[in-house]
Amino acid sequence: MLSFQKIIQTDFEAMNQLILDQLHSDVDLVENIGRYIIDAGGKRLRPMLVLLMANCLGYQGKQHINLATIIEFIHTATLLHDDVVDVSSLRRGRPTANAKYGNAPSVLVGDFLYSRAFQMMVAIGHIEIMDILSNTTNVISEGEVQQLVNAKNPQVTEQDYYTVIHKKTAALFEAACEIGAVIAETDKETAQQAKAFGYHLGLAFQLVDDALDYEGDAEALGKNLGDDLAEGKPTLPLIHSIQHGSTEEAVLVQNAIKNGEVDKLQQIVDIVNKCGGLDYTKTCAQKHANNAQEILTNFPESDFKSALSDLAAFSVERSY
Ligand code: IPE
Ligand code: IPE
Ligand code: MG
Ligand code: MG
Ligand code: MG
Repeated sequence: MLSFQKIIQTDFEAMNQLILDQLHSDVDLVENIGRYIIDAGGKRLRPMLVLLMANCLGYQGKQHINLATIIEFIHTATLLHDDVVDVSSLRRGRPTANAKYGNAPSVLVGDFLYSRAFQMMVAIGHIEIMDILSNTTNVISEGEVQQLVNAKNPQVTEQDYYTVIHKKTAALFEAACEIGAVIAETDKETAQQAKAFGYHLGLAFQLVDDALDYEGDAEALGKNLGDDLAEGKPTLPLIHSIQHGSTEEAVLVQNAIKNGEVDKLQQIVDIVNKCGGLDYTKTCAQKHANNAQEILTNFPESDFKSALSDLAAFSVERSY
């Protein structure tokens, strides 16, 4: 168990139970695929953010359990779709749902999870939260499409890269933290600070994810390395290496992006290491995690706040 999970263990268990209850469908295949990916675990960081933020800001009710479940359903839906788009074969240490069941069922069950999340949202009936979450899912889709447009393009800039990771990943972290604050009925400024905490944490999280795609350990990660290169994704480790390598190294990396040369993974890893692309990416992640922790200084002291800070530290140190 992650250290910061202990403090919200009761809420966490209630959320896991609600996840299982809400997976219910009359169509067996929906439940089978839903359980397949959800039983594989995952870190549950985003729902933990909802639970920790709501508690940190003094929430006393039970709706945060539903909100955490909604956030994990949206996350799981994006993973089902993402693995189809990225042609990935390993997730959470298991064959991906698309590898096991095929692309069509994975996409459709992703849709089921999205729409279940929206049913649950309507049941809560909080218009501001519906506003945040409907905008968030819209932005995530845009981020994934923008990334598709940027694929195989070695001209993509650091700025373009940040736009994509903000939309595809940080947006959900922002939403998780903001709705935790909104349900706790904080003032607007505090809710915006919670959102900003999620923003920096989400960027840090995706920066590390993009570094791990080159230097992680597939067994620990539960995902294959090189999936980004295979799709010709111009992520920060590569963008930095193009800018800082020799002309010859830059051309090699640019061609690997253009052609999605995953067979050159080792060569690219060597170049990226030599040019400091991985160190740079992790330094950027650390800066954003520090920014996130800095924002927490505005919040009241509590064990929940310490746990939020630990979660930010974990997002950078993690190997999975
Ligand atoms: C994977 O997220 C998708 C990204 C945004 C990188 P996680 O690494 O949080 O996935 P799980 O839920 O723990 O499997
Ligand atoms: C995932 O980014 C972002 C979303 C799921 C929206 P990645 O494609 O890098 O995530 P992984 O590495 O497959 O988990
Ligand atoms: Mg992926
Ligand atoms: Mg992807
Ligand atoms: Mg990744």
